[in-house]
Amino acid sequence: MTLLVVGASGHLGGEVCRRAVAAVERVVGTYHANPVAPAGVEARRLDVTDRAAVRALVAAVRPAVVVSTPYRYDDWTVTADGAANVAYAAARAGARLVHLSSDALHAGRPEPYADDDVPTPVFAYGAAKAAAETAVRVVDPGAALVRTSLIVGDERSRQVRLCLDALAGRGALFTDEVRCPVDVGDLASAVLELAASDYAGPLNVAGPDAVSRAELGLLVARRFGLDPGGLRTATSAASGLVRPVEVRLDSSRAAGLLRTRLRGVRELLAP
Ligand SMILES: NC(=O)c1ccc[n+]([C@@H]2O[C@H](COP(=O)([O-])OP(=O)(O)OC[C@H]3O[C@@H](n4cnc5c(N)ncnc54)[C@H](OP(=O)(O)O)[C@@H]3O)[C@@H](O)[C@H]2O)c1
Repeated sequence: MTLLVVGASGHLGGEVCRRAVAAVERVVGTYHANPVAPAGVEARRLDVTDRAAVRALVAAVRPAVVVSTPYRYDDWTVTADGAANVAYAAARAGARLVHLSSDALHAGRPEPYADDDVPTPVFAYGAAKAAAETAVRVVDPGAALVRTSLIVGDERSRQVRLCLDALAGRGALFTDEVRCPVDVGDLASAVLELAASDYAGPLNVAGPDAVSRAELGLLVARRFGLDPGGLRTATSAASGLVRPVEVRLDSSRAAGLLRTRLRGVRELLAP
């Protein structure tokens, strides 16, 4: 069996590869700007905005499964068009597709979001992730769409680095922006389980603990043995930024469906 991980040089894509190499016959992983790939992975350069190149690579690799992770926060052509290009190529090759989506496609509200809630994006990144889902579902109704939240782990996590920066006085963390962080290893295992299933459509795959970014900063401080007194905070409301404030994903369907236990961030970052 051949697994193709698009975005293997990324945080989640790399972890999916590391977990897959022991279990899967052949793992091919792509990078774009950073030519890195975990041991045991066949590395290939790919720009997902190049539709012909995506089709050519997928046709040459002939994967049974494609895991699609690429995004650029401020680039619609990567996040939306790129996801569509990968879905189209995977469908032509008859491959099972697991596409990575985001809680950012929701507007934000106090109540948790269910798996099948339709996107209500309020900013460009959320709109691009919503457009990606629509394109993927049209091209391949059988694809699994993994809606996840802040991906945490060690210092390789961008979210953890943001916390470490705020603890060092560089930048501030919002006290009113709430998310459900998930461990990169738990998420990678869940992705591989979904790859081996026939689950179709959106699935929330996030941790059970909803915390503000500032609370996340305090948990990171405790985990890394840093002085929490140095943490700088602010509010999303006062920042003038337009982005979702409170987004809680209800991941109970995933918890019932998957063997992987999705741990809460308080447990994950316990000292
Ligand atoms: N990080 C979070 O907290 C979070 C939260 C919710 C949802 N998600 C979703 O989870 C997924 C994975 O996130 P992540 O944090 O693991 O991402 P990441 O570490 O930033 O990795 C992004 C990957 O996309 C690749 N990429 C960027 N532009 C590309 C292009 N033009 N062509 C091909 N590949 C390209 C990058 O390759 P190079 O580095 O080689 O350029 C990298 O492998 C994303 O779909 C994201 O929307 C993430």
